[in-house]
Amino acid sequence: MVIKSGIPGLDEILGGGIPARTINLVCGPAGSAKTLFGMQFLLGGAKNGEKGIYITLEESRSNIERAMNNYRFNLLEYQKNNNILIMDLGAMRKEALSKDIEKGMANFSSISKVIKNIQKLTNAKRCVVDSITALGLYYSNVEELRRELFVFATELKEMDMTSLLISEAPDGSNSLTRYGIEQFVCDSFIVLGLEDVKGELRRTIMVRKMRFAKHDTTKHPIVITPDGIAVQAETKIF
Ligand SMILES: Nc1ncnc2c1ncn2[C@@H]1O[C@H](COP(=O)(O)OP(=O)(O)OP(=O)(O)O)[C@@H](O)[C@H]1O
Ligand SMILES: [Mg+2]
Repeated sequence: MVIKSGIPGLDEILGGGIPARTINLVCGPAGSAKTLFGMQFLLGGAKNGEKGIYITLEESRSNIERAMNNYRFNLLEYQKNNNILIMDLGAMRKEALSKDIEKGMANFSSISKVIKNIQKLTNAKRCVVDSITALGLYYSNVEELRRELFVFATELKEMDMTSLLISEAPDGSNSLTRYGIEQFVCDSFIVLGLEDVKGELRRTIMVRKMRFAKHDTTKHPIVITPDGIAVQAETKIF
């Protein structure tokens, strides 16, 4: 079974949509519309009554709400009806640190517990974690991070949700993800790009991996309009 991604044009290049109960990695450099992508993924479900959880670890909830206010999403309505829940775990993490409670407030296992509790209460079907890169800082080496991310992904799958993990790509580097392992642990890997073409930024998307589906592997342009991002599935970038 596949679910609608919520992003116009994307389902066409995915071969119908996102396979349900998978862990999907969305990666891109600063300003490549990762947060917008994540929110549209939740809105795509919320329009059909599927509840969604948005976990933000660095950007504040008010910042996200302010940014989303620029689009014709009516996010506030979905929040009022509890169809979209934005959880600011960055603020919780700060509070815990200031009270000297526990440093572990922001590792994969503590976040997994928070998500599990909310999922049970709300019966949410979609979840976004923005971003997992911040959590990598809590591990002393890449092997440990990979192991913990794998456990986190497995726990998310057991929650009967389709999840989207956002990850930052280092600017101006050849590596697609910060730690070089995120894409192996997840079922899919979608790369958002920002390219400088003759002094203008071009937004792109490429599906590099999608387990369980035959997908389009070419690069496509993305546009941002007052309705959010849309993939131009009929146009290819070579
Ligand atoms: N109203 C708008 N119309 C068109 N483009 C916009 C509008 N508002 C913001 N943008 C573009 O969207 C980009 C931000 O998108 P978003 O916050 O989703 O990116 P991000 O990848 O999550 O960024 P970050 O790395 O900071 O988390 C901005 O850099 C800006 O170029
Ligand atoms: Mg963001």
